[in-house]
Amino acid sequence: MAHPGSADLVIVANRLPVDRVTNPDGSSGWRRSPGGLVTAVEPVMRANDGIWIGWPGGTDADLEPFEDEGMKLVPIALSADEVEEFYEGFSNGTLWPLYHDVVAKPEFHREWWDAYVRVNRRFAEQASTCASENATVWVHDYQLQLVPQMLRELRPDLRIGFFLHIPFPPAELFQQLPWRRQLLEGLLGADLVGFQLPGAAQNFVRLVRQRVGHKTHRDLVYLPDGRTVRAKAFPISIDSAGFEELARSEVVERRAVEIREALGSPSRVFLGVDRLDYTKGIYARLRAYAELVAEGELDVDHAVFVQVATPSREEVEQYKILRDEIDRLVGRINGDLGRIGRPAISYLHSSYPREEMAALYRCADVMVVTPYRDGMNLVAKEYVACRFDNDGALVLSEFAGAADELRQAWLVNPYDINGMKAALMEASRAEGKDVTRRMKAMRKQVMEHDVAAWADSFLAELAAVSPDHGKTVRPVKQ
Ligand code: ADP
Ligand code: G6P
Repeated sequence: MAHPGSADLVIVANRLPVDRVTNPDGSSGWRRSPGGLVTAVEPVMRANDGIWIGWPGGTDADLEPFEDEGMKLVPIALSADEVEEFYEGFSNGTLWPLYHDVVAKPEFHREWWDAYVRVNRRFAEQASTCASENATVWVHDYQLQLVPQMLRELRPDLRIGFFLHIPFPPAELFQQLPWRRQLLEGLLGADLVGFQLPGAAQNFVRLVRQRVGHKTHRDLVYLPDGRTVRAKAFPISIDSAGFEELARSEVVERRAVEIREALGSPSRVFLGVDRLDYTKGIYARLRAYAELVAEGELDVDHAVFVQVATPSREEVEQYKILRDEIDRLVGRINGDLGRIGRPAISYLHSSYPREEMAALYRCADVMVVTPYRDGMNLVAKEYVACRFDNDGALVLSEFAGAADELRQAWLVNPYDINGMKAALMEASRAEGKDVTRRMKAMRKQVMEHDVAAWADSFLAELAAVSPDHGKTVRPVKQ
C-alpha cells in the first residue's frame, strides 16, 4: 500500500474549479472553470475539508498545490501531447460524442487510448498519495473512468465513489468501443457508481453482465472477490438557495432592468445559455426562432433572442465547425431580419460572473434549453431557482436529464423544428396563471432537491455500500 496522505475526502475531476488563463499582456491568471461539474461540486467541496485533484488547464508543468478561497487544490500537469490525445482526443473526440447518442461521429484511435490510460494512472497515483487511511475518494466524470480500479489496486483501504455527469449510453452504442471491457472494469473499482438517471445505471449493469460476465441483481454487481458494487441514479443539482439569494439581491435586480433596457425594452426576451457544444442544439433553436420572425409570428421590435454561447474545447474539429456554422447563421438571421438597433439575435461569446448570469435569468421571459442529449443541464435548474417571482417560462428538451424532474416545462423534441416553434410561441403567449402554476411546481422540485441533498445522498449510499471500511464524510447540510 502506498504511504497514506492526510485528506479524509478527496475529489478527483479532470478540471480544477479554476482554470489557468493567459492574459492579453502575457501574464497568467485564474478564472472559474466552465461547465456544470464545477458548478455542482464546488459547493460540496466548500462544505468539507478535503482536497480537489484536477487539471488546471494549459500545459504548465510546475504548479504546486495551492489554496483558492479556502479550497485545497492539487494540480495535475498535462503535456501538450496529452492535452491533444487524452483531453481533446479520447475524452472529447471519442467518449463525449459516443456517450451523447453519437450526435457527432466518435473517432477511435489507439494512441488516444494509450494517453487516456497514462493520464488516468497519474490521477490515481496522485489520489493515492493525498488520501488518508480509510479516506473517501470521489472520482468524477468520463475523463477518469479507469481511476477507480487503478486507485483500488494502490489503496484497497479507501472507500471509492464514482459519478458520471454525462449520459451513459445504451449497450448498442457502448459496445462500439474497442476498450469497452477495460472501461467497465475501471468503473467497477468503485464501491458506488452514480449516474444522472436510472436508465443509465441500468445500461451499465446490463453491460457488466453481458461484457464482463459478473453476476448482477437489480442495482448490485457481485465481483468474484466478494466485493459488491452498486450502480444507482443520483440526479445532480445546484446550490438552489444560493442562486435564489443572488437573484433577490438589489445589484442583480438592477442589472436585470438595465439589460432589458439595453435590449430596447422588448415585451419578450428569449434566452439560451450554453457552452458552444454540438450536443446543445443551439443551431436548430436559433433556426426555429428565425423562422417565427420571418413568418411574422414574432417581430424584432417586441421580441429578442439572447444567446450566450461560451466557446469550449476550441481545438477539437467538430467544435470549430459548429462555431463557424452558428456564426454564419446568426449573421444571416440578423442581416435578413434585424433592423437598425434591433438585431433579432444578440449573440455573446463571453463568460460571465454569477451575478450577471442571475440577472440574465431574471430578465428572460422564455428560457430555451434544447439539447439533443444532456446528462442533466444545470442552466435549466439555475433559471428556475432565480424565478422567485414564480414568473418565466421554460422550454426544455425531453432529452435533457432535467426533463425527468421539470415535467411542467414546455417539453420539446429538439429534432422537431415545427414542434419547437409551436412550443416557443405557446410559452411566450401563455397566460400568467399557467406560467405561475408551472413555475411553482418546478421551483418546489429544484429548491427541495439541491446539490447538498445530492452530495449527501451519494455519500450516505457510499458509506452504506462499504460499511466495513472508510471514514464517514460530514454531510453538506448542517
Ligand atoms: P455543461 O456542464 O454541459 O456545460 P450545464 O448546463 O449542466 O452544462 O452547466 C453549465 C454551467 O456553466 C452552468 O452552471 C452555467 O451557469 C455555467 N455557464 C454557462 N455559460 C456560461 C457563461 N457564459 N458564463 C458563465 N457561466 C456559464
Ligand atoms: C461538462 C462535463 C465536465 C466538463 C465540462 C466543461 O460539464 O461533464 O466534465 O468539465 O463540461 O468542459 P471542459 O472540457 O471545458 O472541461
